Amino acid sequence: MTKSNRLIVTLLVMNAIGHNFHGIWRHPGARTREFNTLDLWVDLAKKAEQAKIDAFFFTDLLGIQGEFNGSRDVIFEQAMNVPIGDCSMLLPAIAHATTDIGLMYTSSVIQHHPFVFARMASTLDHLSNGRVGWNIVTSANEKAFRNLSLPGNLSHEDRYAWADEYVDVMYKLWEGSWDVDAVKNDPTNGVYANPRKVHDINHIGERYQVEGFNLMQPSPQRVPVLAQAGGSPAGLEFASRHAELMFLSASTPEAIAAQVGTVRGSARQYGRHDSDIKFLLGMMVIVGSTDEEAKRKWSELEEFRSPEAQTAYFSSLSGLDLGLYDPETLLEDLVDHIPGIRGAFNALINGWPAGSKPTVRDFLTSLPRMQTLAGTPERIAARLIELQNAGVDGVQLMNALLPETYDDFFEYVVPVLQDKGIMQSDYRAGTLRQKLFDTENPHIAERHPAFGYRGMFG
Ligand SMILES: Cc1cc2nc3c(=O)[nH]c(=O)nc-3n(C[C@H](O)[C@H](O)[C@H](O)COP(=O)(O)O)c2cc1C
Repeated sequence: MTKSNRLIVTLLVMNAIGHNFHGIWRHPGARTREFNTLDLWVDLAKKAEQAKIDAFFFTDLLGIQGEFNGSRDVIFEQAMNVPIGDCSMLLPAIAHATTDIGLMYTSSVIQHHPFVFARMASTLDHLSNGRVGWNIVTSANEKAFRNLSLPGNLSHEDRYAWADEYVDVMYKLWEGSWDVDAVKNDPTNGVYANPRKVHDINHIGERYQVEGFNLMQPSPQRVPVLAQAGGSPAGLEFASRHAELMFLSASTPEAIAAQVGTVRGSARQYGRHDSDIKFLLGMMVIVGSTDEEAKRKWSELEEFRSPEAQTAYFSSLSGLDLGLYDPETLLEDLVDHIPGIRGAFNALINGWPAGSKPTVRDFLTSLPRMQTLAGTPERIAARLIELQNAGVDGVQLMNALLPETYDDFFEYVVPVLQDKGIMQSDYRAGTLRQKLFDTENPHIAERHPAFGYRGMFG
């Protein structure tokens, strides 16, 4: 395995009963109703670590806006993203039970004051020995804003302007407030930290005024690994400046190559290198000993899918109650009016075969199909190699049935990927950043804007 052809593999999960395969919680093999126990997550983490999975990736939400035909009954009946726990609370337990797997999690810029969040993330990075990653989201969901005393109607530009200031404060706290050699830990001379090497950041911005220094001393990575999934022009621009991991909202090799090209092209203008950003693609893998068996397994799982809850889920992502639309409505007539996440809609429009145009009906029935890869381990490996050639650096594995989907992947697919040399057979030593980027440096690259604050307040 060379540095360039290793595929990063993460598990895309939510601390909820229903994540993105809605209705499956009724399946006798589903353990997601144990989402509020540590055992479910710690068991999964131990198995994932044995399989050399790179990281967990916890998604999160601060508001549920899914409706089906004007009613929200289905979201409660089918546990559609709700109840949802605070995933950050699971991380110390997972960290304590494992040694290498990464702990990526989502925290919206509207969720915590940056002063508070900087300390939380630093603490987790200490407790996990440098394994934390932060998925920076701006909350595309209007309910989230209204739940937090904020106006619900911010434009993409306003959301990302907010994110810009937020990360600026974080970078000042993480990189600027404690010099690299501030902590002496020297009981002989009675000096824990050198007072001249810890600085107030005195940030005065549009939304935040932060006078002091990070209350937590610098963690192994100083700045956690930064991930981002913007799909709008403002989001892609933000990613090109800040992301070390970027989550693709594209499905075909052509669309993937285009999105990778756009972000890398823009990142180069900010002085960043192509290798500074890794691109991950979400997918669901269903494995069988033959392709037919995998397809049969998939259709058995599909029996449990609730079309109503699934529609409510896509309504929640987009902010439109899709059940109220004529199923024949063309997606292209809808997409500009979507207040929430447009990426999945654009992915379908861009990936649709020439000669016809996708409709709301197509969206509701095809999106899960486009994200699912069912077949033998060999077929799955071949497809992953094809995606790699289009520019994908890694995958975010969604689950149909937790834990079975992952157990199957660990048992049957991982050995094949390892044999082919596209998946690691052991972890590299060091922090999450060192493992993902195969670098000696546990800290953020010098070319990243966060690094610019190092030593600035001295
Ligand atoms: C794989 C993936 C995971 C995401 N996870 C979250 C999440 O956990 N919480 C959230 O609010 N948004 C999440 N998003 C949404 C993105 O942060 C972003 O808002 C979305 O892709 C739309 O882009 P835009 O904000 O530029 O319009 C995710 C997107 C993708 C593709």
